[in-house]
Amino acid sequence: MKFEDPEGATLLDPDEMYGLKFDHIRTRAELDELEHTNITEGLRWLARRCGGNSLNEGFIRTLHKRLFGKVWDWAGTYRLHEKNIGIVPHQISMQLHMLLENAHLWAQNSIFEPLEAGARFHHRLVQIHPFPNGNGRHARIAADIYLADYFEHPPIAWASGLDLQGDNARREAYIAALRAADAGDFEPLLKFVAGNGGAKM
Ligand SMILES: Nc1ncnc2c1ncn2[C@@H]1O[C@H](COP(=O)(O)OP(=O)(O)O)[C@@H](O)[C@H]1O
Ligand SMILES: [Mg+2]
Repeated sequence: MKFEDPEGATLLDPDEMYGLKFDHIRTRAELDELEHTNITEGLRWLARRCGGNSLNEGFIRTLHKRLFGKVWDWAGTYRLHEKNIGIVPHQISMQLHMLLENAHLWAQNSIFEPLEAGARFHHRLVQIHPFPNGNGRHARIAADIYLADYFEHPPIAWASGLDLQGDNARREAYIAALRAADAGDFEPLLKFVAGNGGAKM
């Protein structure tokens, strides 16, 4: 359920504010802006990073902390509660470890084309849903790092000029593609990462 203030801005509900480092934040738009600033700083940190293995749990958590740690207390720590998306919390560490091992093997043994490896990595990471929030944004960036570090491949055009956080045809195609992949059909996600999954604008 969404709360609205008299000016029509979407207010955050109390659940959504748990761990928020700023107590003056009331609306979704204010939060989006704070997160956006944090993510921009996180991406700057990433650009300065030289070397290091990006396929390990420590890096995955540090990345989340760099992207969201100025806004949320729990950034970089695993989810403790069940959500409607994601595996049960106590399996997060083990399943993430397995994904990172698999992703390493996919690259080492050229099991998939780079884009398919990136898409599968992203899908499983967001399906595990390691963190309380920010999983979509984190897992898109993590997949781009995997592509760069292990395949020397350019990043995926996730948004393709639109905002994947907002409501639009590209986001609809993205969510539908993730759901198809949940059911074992990776075709829509492969089309999506190739740039022609749904609304290409
Ligand atoms: N049915 C779904 N509805 C919304 N998001 C989904 C769904 N299935 C998978 N996801 C993934 O979960 C992400 C949303 O999780 P969340 O932790 O809120 O991340 P973020 O805050 O970065 O959007 C989406 O970006 C998408 O990657
Ligand atoms: Mg979210």
